[in-house]
Amino acid sequence: MLTTTNSAHSLRFARETSRTPTTSDNVADWAKQARAAALEKAQANISPPDGQPGAVLASPSRQDPNYYYHWVRDGARTMRAFVHLYDVCDAEAKASVRESLFEMLERYVTFSKLNQTTPTLTRGPGEPKFYVTGQAFDGPWGRPQNDAPAQRALVLTRWAKHLLGEGHERYVRGVLYDGGWPDSFSVIKTDLEFVAHNWQAPCFDLWEELHGTHFFTRMQQRVALAEGASLARTLGDGGAADFYAEQAAAIEAAMDAFWNPDANYLVSTLPAPGGFKPENLDTAVLIASAETFSTEAPFYTPDHDRVLATAFALHQRFASLYRINEVTRTSAGEPIFPGIGRYPGDTYTGGAERGEGNPWFLCTLALAEVCYKAARQLRNRSSIAINPQNEGFFNLAVQLVSPDTRLEAGTTLNAGSQESPLLTSGLIAAGDAYLRRVRLHAAQDGSLSEQFNRETGLMMSARDLTWSYVAMVLAENWRSLVT
Ligand code: NOJ
Ligand code: NOJ
Repeated sequence: MLTTTNSAHSLRFARETSRTPTTSDNVADWAKQARAAALEKAQANISPPDGQPGAVLASPSRQDPNYYYHWVRDGARTMRAFVHLYDVCDAEAKASVRESLFEMLERYVTFSKLNQTTPTLTRGPGEPKFYVTGQAFDGPWGRPQNDAPAQRALVLTRWAKHLLGEGHERYVRGVLYDGGWPDSFSVIKTDLEFVAHNWQAPCFDLWEELHGTHFFTRMQQRVALAEGASLARTLGDGGAADFYAEQAAAIEAAMDAFWNPDANYLVSTLPAPGGFKPENLDTAVLIASAETFSTEAPFYTPDHDRVLATAFALHQRFASLYRINEVTRTSAGEPIFPGIGRYPGDTYTGGAERGEGNPWFLCTLALAEVCYKAARQLRNRSSIAINPQNEGFFNLAVQLVSPDTRLEAGTTLNAGSQESPLLTSGLIAAGDAYLRRVRLHAAQDGSLSEQFNRETGLMMSARDLTWSYVAMVLAENWRSLVT
């Protein structure tokens, strides 16, 4: 045990302390309040009273849809957000959240270990979801989903690095990474071994629908291995460190196959699925770029030309797909960007029946996060070459702040040029335009479900979706890091 307190959910990371309501139409103010609400509401879904401590409810909804489970993906994503907030907050905030956060993570580790050791139909770490009691879910499902163990490894690797920095080496070596091989009894090592040996194996995608090789899954596997390699090295497990790093490099080499030069975007699944997904264009690619962002091992970051090309394709496609997207300005004339769904052709509504797909909060927010992160990355570049991949999205962004400016493929922006700051502020404005879309469909108190209806704009499917809240918190957080 690292901590002994029994404090209730209350992590605020300092910036949340003031929640003075504002009547202003300022999207920045709204985002701060939405972040505070989301942070609280996400925590309300952690360690439900009828489950094990450390379980993360995908949503409290028990029917249409029943999301009353711990999805390994959603759980890891949630914990990673908390670790990130801890990472970037100041010393005072760190001191105030430290104990509760340590306790939250420790419980999550214990629950994750239970998941790893509970026999499931998958017979391995790729089991997608568990009852919150820790019991295996034994109904039919899309198994395995191999992004899950990668995401779990990544959050715990990052957490282990914090713990080492704070003098908890014994716990790290004992519970998180024991270096045991071929059998490990520690959570990270078990997942990393699995990922390193099985990333080539086809599996189900994050939407739990398609069996194949997925951009999203590969990106999660790569970053887990790349960051895991440096943890292994620190802990003296040099052979494993080399192996994980080699496998991460092998994944990188295989990623080119997802680029479709004719379509001018990164496709989501290989081989191309056809059927209900003929375009193979999926917001999962953007979610992957945003979620796997790593300062230690950057790859396909949000400022990557191919990622921007894909963002542009998604933006354009969804703008015309959903009727609510005909609204493009607030009454005060500020731009509202389209609500973004999972992929064109989606029919999942979250209810008992399938119908027509809708925009999702977490997809729309992923686009916002991509904009803020891209702005941050580009700000540090000495020159930016405009090309047919980035041209579309860049112009979409720049025109928000300077309607007469047009960036032409073939030209180069140097750090000192007049257009260079326009690009950064344009990307921030683009992120804000996606946030205004979210504001339009969110509840007054900041509640977010999974989807909002493409015709009426009303929230639908699972209420209080943890992942929606996490996406809101992170979008606002990255906004604050770049503005
Ligand atoms: C089908 C949906 O498309 C998928 O995303 C979802 O996870 C499952 N049904 C279970 O609700
Ligand atoms: C359905 C989504 O398709 C999947 O990605 C997610 O893990 C579950 N819902 C739980 O939120």
